[in-house]
Amino acid sequence: MVDVILGLQWGDEGKGKIVDYFAPNYDVIARFQGGPNAGHTLYVGEKKIVLHQIPSGIFHENKINLIGNGVVLDPVTLKKECETVEAMGVNFKKNLYISERTHLILPSHRALDKASELAKGNEKIGSTLKGISPAYMDKTGRNGLRVGDINDKSFVTQYIRLRLKHQKLLENFSFAEDISQWEEEFFEAIDFLKQLKIVNGEYFVNDTIQKGKKILAEGAQGSMLDVDFGTFPFVTSSSTISAGVGSGLGVAPQKIKEVFGITKAYCTRVGSGPFPTELIDENGELLRKNGNEYGSTTGRPRRCGWIDLVALNFACMINGVTQLVMTKADVLDAMNTLEVCTSYKINGKETHEVPFQMNRDSIEPVYKKFKGWKTDITSIEKFNNLPAEMSTYINYINTTLGIPVKFISNGPGSNQIIVAL
Ligand code: GDP
Ligand code: IMO
Ligand code: MG
Repeated sequence: MVDVILGLQWGDEGKGKIVDYFAPNYDVIARFQGGPNAGHTLYVGEKKIVLHQIPSGIFHENKINLIGNGVVLDPVTLKKECETVEAMGVNFKKNLYISERTHLILPSHRALDKASELAKGNEKIGSTLKGISPAYMDKTGRNGLRVGDINDKSFVTQYIRLRLKHQKLLENFSFAEDISQWEEEFFEAIDFLKQLKIVNGEYFVNDTIQKGKKILAEGAQGSMLDVDFGTFPFVTSSSTISAGVGSGLGVAPQKIKEVFGITKAYCTRVGSGPFPTELIDENGELLRKNGNEYGSTTGRPRRCGWIDLVALNFACMINGVTQLVMTKADVLDAMNTLEVCTSYKINGKETHEVPFQMNRDSIEPVYKKFKGWKTDITSIEKFNNLPAEMSTYINYINTTLGIPVKFISNGPGSNQIIVAL
């Protein structure tokens, strides 16, 4: 069976920490989409680690961590990350598998990402500049190179052919960047990749299921950044939702059981694009400060706002969420009043649906106010010991979404998690 953990908002919901928490219950932890645009934070003891390419179960002994075919892989980032985790005692040569169908991010993909963003000017997506969109374009455009190609005699020839194609595109953008240093690192990393376990991911995953073992699929980004259902065009280029698990790992839909949807107790977004409940005031500042809301991959300040139940309800619907995990609840400790967006007013008309275009100008969030709990909850271990105001807040979310909040994270530490009764 396969369970899924994914983000319900615009990313950075705390997936790294939650996957690390659940990993002991599974045999395999697998990434199914995205690439080094992801930054998944977890703590190993006191040490903070941010993973970009390696699944977040890597610190658990005897668990296989699979980079699935739906991922786009930057070998340079992977090599660095392998070296980091090895220094912490992880045997990545044994525990890390990569699907041979996984597409490679080339240095010229990174240059193209940069060129495309520059050309967009004020309309830029706010991409992480990791080459994600150009790499997925080469996948769907049927030009890309895959991990399984690296041992092919013609790999370098194929690489040069693709790079020349990219060169022409870069000239069209009138963009010039010397990528020779990146290319040197790239080929070193390709050599490094050859020592890793490159597998037929879909057979591995299905054999694992056949043997009665359990797989945890780890989402990257968030549902509102999904290429189909997110705030297009301000999205990423992959299927971030539970449906992406099917094509990103090669599993049939009936094999998927639990879908754990993660939401922050509030909401953030990094990069451009609509965000109806964004707070451009002192409350937004307070959330950023108390939540340390700066990008794990790019260091950019994250935009902060109130929890949005319209968007969350939509995300639960398209993912088939069975259980909710609420993270960063402690960040609300200092707030006097909390607000929850319960509907949108669009051109004066109230709706509970996410519209085709989520333009900030036309959406007016309708809020319900809640009293803050003004208590430090970071050392609470039992659900019954949570402040009454917090139970009221959570109960309201439970009933409105019709899905229970089963886990509440009350701090970044790996043991700061409360199981709801
Ligand atoms: P991911 O991309 O979904 O894995 O999330 P990120 O790692 O990008 O961002 C989440 C940030 O919040 C990280 O710095 C985590 O260490 C931190 N974090 C996770 N859960 C909690 C929590 O419950 N409370 C607090 N205060 N921080 C948390
Ligand atoms: P995790 O897995 C938050 C955002 C970027 C940009 C848009 C497109 O850590 O939650 P891309 O580089 O994918 O072309 O950027 O998506 N974005 C993320 N925001 N968390 C992420 O990953 C993100 N990955 C991409 O900021 O707005
Ligand atoms: Mg992140």
